[in-house]
Amino acid sequence: MSLLTVEKLTSSVGAEVVGVDADRLASDDALASAILDSLEHNGVLLFRGLDIDPETQVEFCKRLGGIDYSEGHHHVPGIYRVTLDTSKNSSAGYLRATFDWHIDGCTPIGDEYPQKATVLSAKRVAETGGETEFASSYAAYDALDENEKQRFASLRVVHSLEASQRRVTPDPAPDLLERWRSRPISEHPLIWTHRSGRRSLVLGASADHVVGMDLDEGRALLDELLQRTTTPDCVYRHEWSVGDTVIWDNRGVLHRASPYAPDSPREMLRTTVLGDEPIE
Ligand code: OGA
Ligand code: MN
Repeated sequence: MSLLTVEKLTSSVGAEVVGVDADRLASDDALASAILDSLEHNGVLLFRGLDIDPETQVEFCKRLGGIDYSEGHHHVPGIYRVTLDTSKNSSAGYLRATFDWHIDGCTPIGDEYPQKATVLSAKRVAETGGETEFASSYAAYDALDENEKQRFASLRVVHSLEASQRRVTPDPAPDLLERWRSRPISEHPLIWTHRSGRRSLVLGASADHVVGMDLDEGRALLDELLQRTTTPDCVYRHEWSVGDTVIWDNRGVLHRASPYAPDSPREMLRTTVLGDEPIE
């Protein structure tokens, strides 16, 4: 019998894991490895009503890889509080950029690679909005025709924090703009050839322009590809209940939050599993 029972949520992305509890996730090495395998195939795994506490969430994630312990505005190391409430997270303003499709970690401060996986658990949910949506960037590559696969093989794209922040704050004050611009920009291939041999598209809010292509033409291409990747029939949209936990393969899916009010009580506890694979 397989260690893990999953039920697909859509044909291209997402599956619900049934019959596991939080304590097993935090203690069973074989289960952790089955979860990583399943994540590679399904992109997103949902544990409905898991009710995992923050310490147990970090224990679970430690079995999947290294953990990001940077400041998370929460008393448990390894937990980052996702909320728009600046009294709970002084950097909350930046989180409005989660309303656009993105891949985490495309504009690192140092030479870090994009995160391998991210876990979000719902502590409080929004009255309206606040669903999280996912689309497979592997499926997006696979759906290109042969001619496109060839044409795009050599394209490189510049990613910046400014590009993702401008979408939600189009008219920044000079000091804010300066802070965005102090973050290094990154250049990535449009097509990521993973160590597994699979290929995916590297798109999303941080993608600013295509190197060597007319600015508007390149942006139109990026917009078109993002649209084709995220048509409703390619998306799993998770409507949160308190206690749900979701994990996604940050290297093979794009994600975004549906907008929710700045004063919404919505609060997600996030743990990030660090990446060990460059985009190449
Ligand atoms: C994130 C993120 C989406 C959400 O934490 O990286 O994109 O629904 N969150 O809060
Ligand atoms: Mn994100």
